Amino acid sequence: MSTAPGPRPSTVGNPLDLFRLDGRTVVVTGASSGLGERFARVVHAVGANVVVAARRAERLAQLVEALPGSVAVAVDLSLEDDRERLVAAACERFGHVDVLVNNAGISPPHVESMVDTTEALWDKVMDVNLKGPFFLTAEIGRRMAARGGGSVVNISTTSALMAQPEIAAYCISKAALNAMTRCFARELGPQGVRVNAISCGVIKTAMGDHTLNDPQRYADMMKINPLKRVGYPEEVAATALYLASDASSYSTGIILQVDGGVLA
Ligand SMILES: NC(=O)c1ccc[n+]([C@@H]2O[C@H](COP(=O)([O-])OP(=O)(O)OC[C@H]3O[C@@H](n4cnc5c(N)ncnc54)[C@H](OP(=O)(O)O)[C@@H]3O)[C@@H](O)[C@H]2O)c1
Repeated sequence: MSTAPGPRPSTVGNPLDLFRLDGRTVVVTGASSGLGERFARVVHAVGANVVVAARRAERLAQLVEALPGSVAVAVDLSLEDDRERLVAAACERFGHVDVLVNNAGISPPHVESMVDTTEALWDKVMDVNLKGPFFLTAEIGRRMAARGGGSVVNISTTSALMAQPEIAAYCISKAALNAMTRCFARELGPQGVRVNAISCGVIKTAMGDHTLNDPQRYADMMKINPLKRVGYPEEVAATALYLASDASSYSTGIILQVDGGVLA
């Protein structure tokens, strides 16, 4: 079977083979902790060459030690030079990128009132959650299109759809990430590049703990959660693998909910 991701899987035998990523190169941003670290481990387990990116170099170094053949690139994805360095490092080591997981993100401190959002806070959130993924997708998507295929997975949130004025900049950045997902899906689909997103509910990571450690916020969340529990990184990683791989070959522009059913 060809290792290049085409617009359609070349063989359909064992359906589980559709989830394999043997020989494909996967870039995972925000892989120094939480969801990104789990994604990196999962795609490595199904045969991918993995490139992990984030700012904390030491954590990345520990991760690549556990994932033979993988590469760490310490970058601040809000910076153009760093994004260029990431793409160059991935292409230099593996020749090209088949899958990009735009997972790096920040959730800012809560503001008393939305009208108090400072421009500095706005810029910081938009730079990491939106500008970084946009320009990384543009650069890598252009290369994927030239090769005739690829998959981009953006990590979004239910906060994009549920108004939370205390973290308005975060909500807005992720709502824009959803729009970005659909725009790139239309733009790059004809060249075989699929672009999808995962809309996460509260997941047990450092970021999720912000909600989980606040009894009132946790109780409010449980009221609207039919599954009555938090999600775990492996549950999001399984969905990311589905979207990254040929298992989802006929899907693009979708925002898949992994949120315990809060929007049901
Ligand atoms: N956990 C949840 O409940 C939840 C819910 C909905 C959506 N999400 C989304 O899931 C994604 C992952 O979050 P998480 O829950 O796994 O939290 P996390 O453990 O805090 O992970 C965030 C990751 O983003 C990286 N990052 C932040 N700023 C960066 C920058 N400027 N450049 C490069 N990397 C940067 C961090 O690495 P460094 O600090 O090393 O740079 C870290 O690896 C985020 O996009 C988040 O919005 C999470």
